[in-house]
Amino acid sequence: MTQTDALTAAARRPGYIKLHDEAGFAGMRAAGRLVAEALDAVHDMIRPGLPTSAIDAFAFDFARSRGALPATLNYRGYGHSVCTSINHVVCHGMPDDRPLREGDVVNVDLTFVLDGWHGDSSRMYFVGEASRRARRLCEVTHEALMRGIAAIRPGAHLGDVGAAIQDYAEGERCSVVRDFCGHGLGRLFHDEPNVLHYGRVGEGPLLKPGMFFTVEPMINLGKPAVKILPDGWTAVTRDRSLSAQYEHAVGVTREGVEIFTQSPRGLFAPPPG
Ligand code: MF3
Ligand code: CO
Ligand code: CO
Repeated sequence: MTQTDALTAAARRPGYIKLHDEAGFAGMRAAGRLVAEALDAVHDMIRPGLPTSAIDAFAFDFARSRGALPATLNYRGYGHSVCTSINHVVCHGMPDDRPLREGDVVNVDLTFVLDGWHGDSSRMYFVGEASRRARRLCEVTHEALMRGIAAIRPGAHLGDVGAAIQDYAEGERCSVVRDFCGHGLGRLFHDEPNVLHYGRVGEGPLLKPGMFFTVEPMINLGKPAVKILPDGWTAVTRDRSLSAQYEHAVGVTREGVEIFTQSPRGLFAPPPG
C-alpha cells in the first residue's frame, strides 16, 4: 500500500492494531491457501508469449470458481484481478495484452477475499531462463522476506522485522524501496499496522498474538527511488534497475508466527541454481 493509504488507515483508528481470535486464524488460513494455490497454478502458465491479461483472466475465474473475489478489482479504481510487475516495475503493474518475453522476471500479486477474509501474496516468476543478476535479486528478496518473518514473535517489535530485511538486503548491495510497505489485513484489505521494510531493532509497535499483517519487501539492484507512470498505478525504479518482491500474509501466534500463504506445492521460493 502507499503512504497515503497508511495515513487513511491511521486516521480511522490511530495506532490501533486488531487482535484476532481462532476464527480469524481459520478464515485467514483458508483465504491464504486459496491465493497460494492460484499462485502455484500461475507457475504452470508462465512462458514466453503469454500476455499478462491471461493471468488476470485466470485469477478472476479461479477466485470465482472457489467462491472468492479478487480484492483488487475496483479497489480505488484499480480495474484488474492481479498486479503483474515486470523487470524494473516495482509493483502495481497492470496486466495487458503484451506478451511476456524470454528472460523477463515478473511478480504476480494476488489478493482474494474468501468468506470476508483477505489472502494476499506475491512471488517472482522467471519467463524461460532468467539472467544471473535477476536470479540473484530474486534470491536476495526472498531471503529478505523470510528473515523478516523469522523476526516475528510476541514481544518483538515491528522495527525488528524491517531491520532484518534492510540489514540483509543492503548487506547484499541491494536497496529497499521506501515508498510502499506491508499492511495489516483481515476483514480489511489494508489496515493498521504499517509494515516498513527498513527500520531499527526495538522500534515500532510491539507484536502480540492475533495480529495479522503482510510482509512484502520490494528490493532493487540499483537505487531505491521509484516513480509512478502516468497511468497512475505502475511504479517503476527511477534508474530502471531491476526490482523484485515477495509477499506473505502472516499471523502472530503465542509461539511465534504462522504463514497463511505457504505454497502447497513448495513453489514459493525462487528455483535453485
Ligand atoms: N496486493 C497489493 C498489496 O500487496 C495491493 C494491490 S492494490 C491494487 O498490498 F489496487 F494495486 F491492486
Ligand atoms: Co499486501
Ligand atoms: Co499483495
